[in-house]
Amino acid sequence: MADHKNASDIGTALSPASLVPDYFCPSGWIEHAPFAFWVCAALRPRHFIELGTHYGYSYFAFCQAIDRLGLGTTAYAVDTWQGDEHAGFYDESVFQSVAAQNNEKYPAFSTLIRSTFEGALGYFADRSVDLLHIDGRHFYDDVKNDFMIWRPKLAEDAVVLFHDTNVREREFGVWKFFDELAAQHPSFRFFHGHGLGILVLGEPVPATIAPLIEASRETADQIRAVYAFLGGALSTRAALGGRDREIAALRAALAKRDEELAEALGAIEAQNRLITAGAEVADAAVSRPPVVIQQSDAMQQSAAPEHCTAPGDALRRADELLATLQSAQCELSKSWLGRQILQASRARLQNQDGQQKSSNHRLSSL
Ligand SMILES: C[S@@+](CC[C@H](N)C(=O)[O-])C[C@H]1O[C@@H](n2cnc3c(N)ncnc32)[C@H](O)[C@@H]1O
Repeated sequence: MADHKNASDIGTALSPASLVPDYFCPSGWIEHAPFAFWVCAALRPRHFIELGTHYGYSYFAFCQAIDRLGLGTTAYAVDTWQGDEHAGFYDESVFQSVAAQNNEKYPAFSTLIRSTFEGALGYFADRSVDLLHIDGRHFYDDVKNDFMIWRPKLAEDAVVLFHDTNVREREFGVWKFFDELAAQHPSFRFFHGHGLGILVLGEPVPATIAPLIEASRETADQIRAVYAFLGGALSTRAALGGRDREIAALRAALAKRDEELAEALGAIEAQNRLITAGAEVADAAVSRPPVVIQQSDAMQQSAAPEHCTAPGDALRRADELLATLQSAQCELSKSWLGRQILQASRARLQNQDGQQKSSNHRLSSL
């Protein structure tokens, strides 16, 4: 909770419309937070109710104003937190996230009522609500019904906000119902951010919001332009926040990929070392002069050289070499390069083995 000295300093030095929301979430209401801040400061409502909260963007903008400006308002958010045909249907995590934010920041004055709009009526005394925000399902019959059933709960000078007054597609009918109300009561419309209608029930219009409601056409356009500009900046900020989250997720994925890459490179290097060792052993064996042939030459010269090895020894050494290479093959089998080297080495060894066998045959037939 903001302390009251701080709250009054903010109110004095800045227009509340210039506050920046501290809670962003997916919402079609992003661009109206500056007006929520301003209207709360202007009306200082005792009881604020929102019908239709979803992720809580608009509701927490009102709560932020109540808190930061020290208004002493009690606030209630009514929603089934199940969704509808226009907002889409969603799972339990949405309510959990709203409840967590509410418990953390605004438990002192804000209550979530998980109910249909009609089901929540019994919790409120007639003529007790000063500021009502209607943002449920948007068919004409819905918005009309929401307003009509809550009408007895509204104070004489209550102000009612309607979102999506500028949406015509998907059978939205808020614009039509608001047109009907605006013909009977003082009102104001914003066109940006899907449209926001402001309806004042009592007359005369409260002095603090008269400059808005009774503005000349030219002034009204200027007010709209300023709020559209402020709202546009919030849209940009929300989009950048979304990008920031995407970038953070991509960075995390990239870091994980780097780790995997480092591991894979380590494994490849280990395989390369094995391949090099295997290739060196194989090359050494292949390049060594065939022992039996030397022996055969020596025998032809009728003098056995001292280093002469028996044919069985040469075969044993070749077998040992093959065994070494076969065990290395297990490690190397995943490596294409390793397989190539092993196959070449094995072919050379088999070739050498064949030469030894034919030499042996020649020797035994002597
Ligand atoms: C457009 S969303 C609200 C958006 C929200 N004000 C924001 O700032 O983003 C409409 C919400 O109204 C709720 N809703 C619609 N009809 C309802 C009803 N009859 N009773 C209770 N909740 C309802 C839906 O569950 C949905 O979460």
